[in-house]
Amino acid sequence: MKKSIRDIEVTGKKVLVRVDFNVPLDPKTNEIMDDSRIIAALPTIWYLIEHKARLILCSHLGRPDGQVVESLRMTPIAERLSQLTNLPIYTVSDCIGLKVNKALAKLKNGDTLLLENLRFHPEEEANDPAFAKSLAELADIYVDDAFGTAHRAHASTYGVAKLLPAYAGFLLEKELKALGNLLTNAQHPFAALLGGAKVSDKIKLISNIIDKIDVLLIGGGMAATFLKAQNYGVGLSSVEEDKKDLANQIIDTARKNNISLLLPLDVIVADAVNDLSKYSIAPISMIPANKYIVDIGPQTIELFIGHLKQCRTIFWNGPMGVYEIAQFSRGTKSMAELLANLSATTVVGGGSTAELVAEMHLSFKMTHVSTGGGASLSFLEGKTLPGVEVLLDDK
Ligand code: 3PG
Repeated sequence: MKKSIRDIEVTGKKVLVRVDFNVPLDPKTNEIMDDSRIIAALPTIWYLIEHKARLILCSHLGRPDGQVVESLRMTPIAERLSQLTNLPIYTVSDCIGLKVNKALAKLKNGDTLLLENLRFHPEEEANDPAFAKSLAELADIYVDDAFGTAHRAHASTYGVAKLLPAYAGFLLEKELKALGNLLTNAQHPFAALLGGAKVSDKIKLISNIIDKIDVLLIGGGMAATFLKAQNYGVGLSSVEEDKKDLANQIIDTARKNNISLLLPLDVIVADAVNDLSKYSIAPISMIPANKYIVDIGPQTIELFIGHLKQCRTIFWNGPMGVYEIAQFSRGTKSMAELLANLSATTVVGGGSTAELVAEMHLSFKMTHVSTGGGASLSFLEGKTLPGVEVLLDDK
C-alpha cells in the first residue's frame, strides 16, 4: 500500500501531478480520439482543486524522441480538460525553466497549469538527475496518477519522486486495486481471454496467472502459433516458430492443472488483410494454404461465450482478429458486448482493447478498464512498477 493524496494537507501547496495524458490523436485533424485517460484522472484533479492546491499537471504525449514536435503539444489536451472541468487550464510552452516559473508565479490556490510535453526533452526518458531536479523544484509535493506510464522509470515518474514527498493519486490506487484483486483475490471460475498479435507479448502474463485461472481462451493473431504448434495448417498467417514449444508447454500445463484451454474451432480466412478482400469461414482443420486468418469464427464465438458465461471473473486483453477492418471485427466485438452484459467482474487490459471498448461506448459497463496497456501487462506479469515502487509506503 502506498500513501495517497488523502494523507496530506495540500491547501496552498504546489502539487506536481504526473498524469498519463498520452491519448490517441487523429493524424489528420490532431483531434483527441479517445479522452478516457483524461476523464480517468479527473477525481484526483477535482480533489486537488477543491482542496485549493496549486495544481501543476505534467504528461508525455506520443514519442517525440526528445524533439519539439508541433503536433504533439499539449494544447488540445488543455482544451479538453478545460471543457471537462469548465475551468481555465493554463498552459506554458515548456515543462521546466523560466517560462514555467513565470506561469507558476501567477498560479493561485485552486488553479491548474498544464506543462508542455515532457518528452520534448530527451532527459525525461533518460531519467536525467538534473532534469528530475528541475521538475522537483517546481513543487512542494509530487503525486503520481499516471498508471499508464508507471512501468517506465523516467524523470517524471521516478527521478522526481525520489526528490519530493511522493503520493499516489486516486487513479493509480484504483488501478492497483482492480488489477491486484485479479492476482490475489479473484472469484472463481476465473477466465483470461487473450488475443493480439504475438504469443511472445503474452508469455510472461500467462506464466504468472496460469495457477490462478480456471479457463484460458486464446484468439487473435497469437492463436495461429498455438494452432501451428498443434500441427494445424494456418495458411499465410504469421507464426512465431520459436514459440511453438512454449505454446505446447502452456497447453500441457493447462491440461495437468485442470484448466480449460480453448483455442479457436473455426476462423475467418481472407485472401488479403484489407477491407476489399474476399473472406469465408474455415474449420481449423481446413485452413486454406493461400489465406490469412483474420478473426475467430462463429462456432468459436459460441464456444467462448458458453465458457465465459460460467465465470465470475474475466480478464480480457487483446483483440480476437483484425478488428480495425469492419468485416473482421465480429469476434472482438462479440466479446466486448458479452463482457459488458455479464454480471461477473470484468477487467479489460489497456491499450487497443480499452480503446475498442471505449469506441463501442461500453467502458462504463465493465468493472474496470485499465488506462495502462504496457503497465497493466507488466503488473499482471508480476513485475514491480518503478513509478509505484518509488512512492511513499503507507505503514
Ligand atoms: C502508454 O500509452 O502505454 C503509455 O502512455 C506509455 O507510453 P510509452 O509506451 O510511449 O512509454
